[in-house]
Amino acid sequence: MQWALSDNLPSSGIREILNLALQKPGTIRLETGEPDFPPPPHILEAYVEASRSGKNRYTATEGIPALRQALSHKLQAVNRIKRAPEEILVTPGGIPGLFLAFMGTAGMGTEILVPDPGWPDYLGGMVSLGIAPVPYPLAAPDYLPNLDTLTRLLTPRTRALVLNSPGNPTGRIVPEPLVRRLCEWADEHDLWIISDEVYDQMVFAGTPTSPARFRPDRTLSAYSFSKTYAMTGWRLGYLAGPPGAIASLTRVAMGAWSSVSEPLQYAGLAALEGPQDVVDRMRLAYLRRRNLSMHILSNLGVATSNPDGAFYLLADVRSAHASSREFALNLLQEDGVAVAPGSAFGQEAEGWVRISLASSDVNLTEGLTRLGQRVKGAVRR
Ligand SMILES: Cc1ncc(COP(=O)(O)O)c(C=O)c1O
Repeated sequence: MQWALSDNLPSSGIREILNLALQKPGTIRLETGEPDFPPPPHILEAYVEASRSGKNRYTATEGIPALRQALSHKLQAVNRIKRAPEEILVTPGGIPGLFLAFMGTAGMGTEILVPDPGWPDYLGGMVSLGIAPVPYPLAAPDYLPNLDTLTRLLTPRTRALVLNSPGNPTGRIVPEPLVRRLCEWADEHDLWIISDEVYDQMVFAGTPTSPARFRPDRTLSAYSFSKTYAMTGWRLGYLAGPPGAIASLTRVAMGAWSSVSEPLQYAGLAALEGPQDVVDRMRLAYLRRRNLSMHILSNLGVATSNPDGAFYLLADVRSAHASSREFALNLLQEDGVAVAPGSAFGQEAEGWVRISLASSDVNLTEGLTRLGQRVKGAVRR
């Protein structure tokens, strides 16, 4: 019997390091993008309380009304976009929302422009849908999209542009005037914008601008509770878009996951309605670690990115004269430090490695010192 899915779905270069790190106890883990904080206690309590009080049933596929209403307020207050509750679909995390966005905007045999360097998990979803991801470069040191380059990459099959701001792994926030120009450009070329805003509240400098502000009718924006409230394993996110698109994708969600866990949706409501200083405390911890990490690496002569948000730092290891994958494998095997190779994020980040700031100050200090010494040692040899 034939299996319908391609055997060639992309695998993740971050996973390779992660799997090896798991086999090596004592490894300093700087490779994964997962908050090292627990979910705030009042959110946990809300989950337990909802479940205890009998909220353990299927809900409407689009989400419970109170949560969609609260999300509509959040989008207005934080992201400065107007989305009515009917324009929001609650999803089991950010990635399922993105998967639906790919499915709704592009079909088999079409193309979507994706950032390079960019988050590799976009690719598996697209390829499984028969969509070809077409990388567009975000070149150091700015890591910003360039309109001429994007135009050169267009073909009659291009359907959508993925923007990710603040970006993983670059940490870059696309400035508002450029977001506006990208929206005009997408209009000219009849493209959807799929805006990945899962790091919208992990910001160190500047303010992210949602393209839906300028182009609500042709933008789908994906959000998540994973990073903002340290709820990665709980799987809660939401997709906002024009009402027709959300209604259509709700029908897909009905046949894919039916509805998101009911107590979890109440926990999400508590997250939105409860104190927001929990978000700020985590954000400030990442900011402090960003500054600490940049300081350590700069003292060791290693150039880095200068992220505006998210919780990653790119370090330039080109002078180690190895591919980023070889460098990451050697750093893991010989120095006991796990980082993600730049090649996992596309061609543009080859020669760089990504460091996750979602780790303790102690781990960052020790891990980055070993990384810097490996780069310096290679230069001396
Ligand atoms: C850029 C980006 N988008 C989306 C996600 C998806 O997050 P989740 O599915 O946990 O909401 C991640 C997670 O690492 C990410 O880095």
